[in-house]
Amino acid sequence: MKKLPLPDGRVRIVPSLLAADFANVRGDLQPLVKAGVSWASVDVMDGHFVPNLAFGPDLVSALKHNGTGKVFLDAHLMVSNPDVYGPIFAAAGADWVVFHLEACRSPRALIKKLRKLGVGVGIAIKPKTPAKSLFPYLKDLDLALVMTIEPGFGGQKFMPKMLSKISALRVEIDRQGLKTWIQIDGGVNAETAVLAASAGADSLVAGSAVFKQRNPVSALKKIERAAQKAFMKSHLVKV
Ligand code: DX5
Repeated sequence: MKKLPLPDGRVRIVPSLLAADFANVRGDLQPLVKAGVSWASVDVMDGHFVPNLAFGPDLVSALKHNGTGKVFLDAHLMVSNPDVYGPIFAAAGADWVVFHLEACRSPRALIKKLRKLGVGVGIAIKPKTPAKSLFPYLKDLDLALVMTIEPGFGGQKFMPKMLSKISALRVEIDRQGLKTWIQIDGGVNAETAVLAASAGADSLVAGSAVFKQRNPVSALKKIERAAQKAFMKSHLVKV
């Protein structure tokens, strides 16, 4: 079993490689890793569950084996058949495999299968899926992902309506005393990161607000500082 970071009151800003330079993903990621980033998100899209295509398992193994060393990679599977692709990305070296609840007929079976493969397991929900649909699985999950945009493309606007879902998950995870990350993904920047962290998110995936900036490292650090301050203020670091 991989030794993955557990929620510790420190908010992680997780760069989304979908916004990186596809001709130079390693080159884009390395300065962030050098600056202390230890977690990146690999968006996997099949053109069916979402109307876009992105990243295969070979990118994960390339980054794991000769790209960026110690960085943890989470494979966010926006695919209609996570039962097939989950194990493939686990074998490719993904540290977490995050699948969509809307695409999985038997989440418990897939969680079990992925656990056996030694990866961290997350379930993602699209904007229309209620937070409580994740509650029955939380104790078996390392991560719950609330999409704050309709999945498929970077550069979209953050959906503030998702904040209540984040808070509901934060209350439930704290109530159960779980060490489960609350991750959000989509439209994260220094402003929306404050809203999300105040609501209880502690892992924020950011694409354009990092990679499309003149200085991605300082852009990420700015988001991280803002999010951390907001998280500490609202959650008095219960972890
Ligand atoms: C979209 C992806 C997101 C996206 C985030 O479905 O899952 O990770 O790349 O990009 P921004 O941060 O630009 O919204």
